[in-house]
Parts: sequence; C-alpha cells; structure tokens
Amino acid sequence: MATKSVLILLLVVVATTFAQKKCCYPSQFEGSFGSLVATVTGGQGMTQSEGWQYAYDYTNGRMATINYRESQGQMIKYQDIYLYSKGVAYIVEIGPGFTICQQISINGTLPHCIPSSATYLGSSYYGDHKLNVDFFKFFESMSSSTYANITMTVSQGDCIPFSVVEEGMFDGVPKLRIRGYVNYTSGISDPSKYFTVPSGCPPSNRETLNMRKSPFDKILP
Ligand SMILES: *[C@@H]1O[C@H](CO)[C@@H](O)[C@H](O)[C@H]1NC(C)=O
Ligand SMILES: *[C@@H]1O[C@H](CO)[C@@H](O)[C@H](O)[C@H]1NC(C)=O
Ligand SMILES: *[C@@H]1O[C@H](CO)[C@@H](O)[C@H](O)[C@H]1NC(C)=O
Repeated sequence: MATKSVLILLLVVVATTFAQKKCCYPSQFEGSFGSLVATVTGGQGMTQSEGWQYAYDYTNGRMATINYRESQGQMIKYQDIYLYSKGVAYIVEIGPGFTICQQISINGTLPHCIPSSATYLGSSYYGDHKLNVDFFKFFESMSSSTYANITMTVSQGDCIPFSVVEEGMFDGVPKLRIRGYVNYTSGISDPSKYFTVPSGCPPSNRETLNMRKSPFDKILP
C-alpha cells in the first residue's frame, strides 16, 4: 500500500531520542480536522475525504463533531454528539424540513491521554522548527474483526493532536483512516453549538441502538 511506504519513510526519518513522556491532551479545546478514509466495499477500494469541526470537552466527559455536506442536491448538517458522562450518543442529520436522530448507548470514558501501552517512536519538526511533534504507536482492538494499529503525533510539550493514522479492520474489512487536526483553540467558545441535543432526538423518538464500537468512531484515540 502506497500509504504504508510513506508512513515507513516518515518513521525512518524521525530522530530517535530518549523516550518521551506519554502526555495528556488539553482538557477543553476545539478546531477542525480533515479526514481521509480508505476502505473496501463489494471488492472495490474506495476513499472518502471530509472536513469536520470538533469540540473536545474532557472536563464534562463529552465531545462532538459537525460537518455540512451536499446530498442529492440538499445541504445536510451532520452532527455527532458523544455524551460519555451520560452513556449516550446522538448521530444527527438535519436537512431542510427534517431531522433524523439516532440515540446510541456508549460505554467507557472519553480518551484523554496517549495510552500507557503506546510506544514512543521519535520526534520531528515541521517548517523551520515551527512545530515539534512526538510520534507514538499503539494497538486498539474492539473484537477479533475490529482493530487498528494507530500512529499518532502530538505537539511536544502541550500535547495538542496533530495527526492520527489508523490502519486495521472494521468488521473484517480493511480500513485506513488518516486525520490531520488544524486551527486548535483552547476552550470551547460556544458549547451549545456542539452539545445542545436537537429537538427531534429521543426521548421523543425512543429508538436506541447498540453502537458497534470501533477505534474508527472516535475523534481521538
Ligand atoms: C457496554 O454496556 C453494555 C450494557 O450495559 C454491556 O452489556 C456491555 O458488556 C458493555 N461493553 C463493554 C465493552 O464494556
Ligand atoms: C500492527 O503492527 C504490528 C507491528 O508493527 C504488525 O505486526 C501487525 O501486523 C499490524 N497489524 C495491522 C492490522 O496492521
Ligand atoms: C483555519 O483558520 C484559517 C485562519 O483563521 C481560516 O482561514 C481557515 O478557513 C481555517 N480552516 C478550517 C479548516 O477551519
């Protein structure tokens, strides 16, 4: 896979120094990420690229993403709200005159740190020493058919996510996802923009689904 050789090249270039301390992300921040997903459906390779706005709120055990995409000539707002502290997530689509909202049970807590199982791979910089990053690698497995090798870079010192590459299987199908995080700002300026559950969501519509948990579902590993 071409991406694999790029990744290997990246990893070879990084300087190996003393093991870096595994850090924890800031507690509240927002920004955007670009995502490229490659997977296989019906024997065909396919890719999808998207841009998202996100808010990460460890203090209140929640995170959310928003994006706008055109679908069949209509502009649709996609909003995913993960309320870990309440064990529930909402996957929402809002279009002209309609709201489709699924409520999903979720387990666990919002990830906050580079996992203790991670291996420090080295450090690099971008631009003319404009940004120093640390590389970490770890493995996440949800089941025998859903797992990923994850390579993550964070800015040195303040631990702000810079990129995440997830390579593995989702329900037995190979999947690769690459994310680059940009435009970090500390704090969440308007929490209601992300976290207010739209009207039209349960309990008015009591559909509850069990989430198929996967490393690929999360904003941050
Ligand atoms: C998640 O919660 C459900 C319902 O409480 C439970 O049956 C299941 O074992 C939990 N899964 C994990 C991975 O903890
Ligand atoms: C994950 O990485 C390990 C060690 O590099 C490798 O042996 C394994 O095949 C990788 N798994 C996947 C699913 O890529
Ligand atoms: C990032 O910030 C720049 C400067 O404020 C802005 O022009 C750009 O649209 C932002 N990018 C994203 C993806 O939000």
